[in-house]
Amino acid sequence: LDNGLARRPPMGWMSWQRFLCVVDCNLYPDDCISDTLFRQMADRMSEDGYLEAGYEYLVIDDCWMATKRDEQGKLQPDLIRFPYGMKNLSDYVHSKGLKFGMYQAVGRKTCAGYPGSKGHLEIDANTFAEWDVDYIKMDGCSARKYEYKKAYTDFGKFLNNTGRPIVYSCSWPAYLEIPGIHANYTYLAEICNLWRNWADIEDSYESLTAIIDWFSKNRNRFINSAGPGNWNDPDMLLIGNYGLSIEQSKSQMALWAIMAAPLLMSVDFRTIDQRSKDILLNKEAIAINQDKLGLQGRWLKKTDSIDIWVRQIAPVVNGEYTYAVAFHSRREDGFPFALRVALDEISLSNSIEYFVTDIFEPTNFNRTVNVAEEILVRVKPSGVVFLKFVPQGI
Ligand code: DGJ
Repeated sequence: LDNGLARRPPMGWMSWQRFLCVVDCNLYPDDCISDTLFRQMADRMSEDGYLEAGYEYLVIDDCWMATKRDEQGKLQPDLIRFPYGMKNLSDYVHSKGLKFGMYQAVGRKTCAGYPGSKGHLEIDANTFAEWDVDYIKMDGCSARKYEYKKAYTDFGKFLNNTGRPIVYSCSWPAYLEIPGIHANYTYLAEICNLWRNWADIEDSYESLTAIIDWFSKNRNRFINSAGPGNWNDPDMLLIGNYGLSIEQSKSQMALWAIMAAPLLMSVDFRTIDQRSKDILLNKEAIAINQDKLGLQGRWLKKTDSIDIWVRQIAPVVNGEYTYAVAFHSRREDGFPFALRVALDEISLSNSIEYFVTDIFEPTNFNRTVNVAEEILVRVKPSGVVFLKFVPQGI
C-alpha cells in the first residue's frame, strides 16, 4: 500500500503468541491482557534496548474488548482490565517513544468472540484514529469468503479517510490459503501494508518449519509483491518463549531476515533470557531484514539436508549485489554438519571476490573469499549459519 508507511518491514511486539487470550486477571495477574501488561511491556521495550534496535510498534492483539459496543455503537475496552480506556494507554505507549497498534477483525466477531467490525467498519476506523492508533492488525474470522474483498478494501479507505497515518495489516490471504485458495497478492499490495499469508505460528519448531516450508514451496506466487510499503508476514517471532532451542531461534531470526518479514516479537520482556535477547537484538540480522532495497529473499536449494536461502541486499558494487545467505540444517543427526560450497553454487558471481562475515559468530570468516575457493560451513542440527557476502569490486 502506497501510503508512505512501512517502507521497511514493521518491527515491534505483539501480544498474541505469548499471552493469547488470557483474561482471568485473578488467576494470572501478571499475564492477563490488561492495561498493566501493556504498560510493563512498553517500559521494558523502551528501556531494555528493543526500541533502540528498531522495534517500535507495541501491538495489542485480540481480547482487549468489552463483550458489547457502547450505546453509540463504538468499540470499548473491557473496563475492568483497561480501567483508564485506550486513549490513555495509547498516550502512555507514545510517551515511551513507541508506536501503538491494535487488533480487530472484519467479520461479525473477532476470532476470540469479541465484537467484530462487520457493519461498523467506518465507525471503528474513526475510533482507532481517535485513540491515536498507528497500526491495525485486521483479522478475518467469522466472515464469508465473498465478503473479504469489500470489507478489507473499505476498511483501508476508512483508515485513509481519518487522515492519520496507520499501518494496515490484513489477515485476508490466510483465510484463503489455509483452505487452499490462491490469494491475489497484486491486489493485496495495493490495499494493505502487510498481510498474513498462512497459518498461525505456535510455540514449537514443528510449527516454525511448517511455516518455513509453506513459504519456500509457494514463494513464486508472492515474493515479487514484497517491497517498500508491502510485506508478506509469516507471523510472529517465537524467540525467548518455551518451544525453540537457541539454535532454532537463530534459524527463525535468519529466515525472517531473508524473507523480509515483519519482525514482531511476542515474548515476555520481564523474564526473557540473555541469549534469546541477543538474537532478537542482533544488529546485523536486523540490518539485513530492514535492507533498503526491500527485495524478499528466497529458498534456493537443499544440499545434504541443508536448506540454502539467499537474499539480495545493498550495497550494490559495480552492479553486483551484496548477498545474505542462510544455511538452515534440517538434519537431526547430532553433529554440526560440514558443507562445502563454491560461490557460484549459491548464486553469487564467480568473477569477483566477496568479503564474508558470519552474523551470529562474528569471529568466523571476517575475510575475503576468493572465487576459486570453496567455503566450509558447519551447521548445527536444526540451526543455521547466516553469512553476508559483500562484493569487493572487480
Ligand atoms: C488469528 C490470528 O491469525 C492470530 O495471530 C491472532 O490474532 C488470533 N486470531 C486472535 O484471535
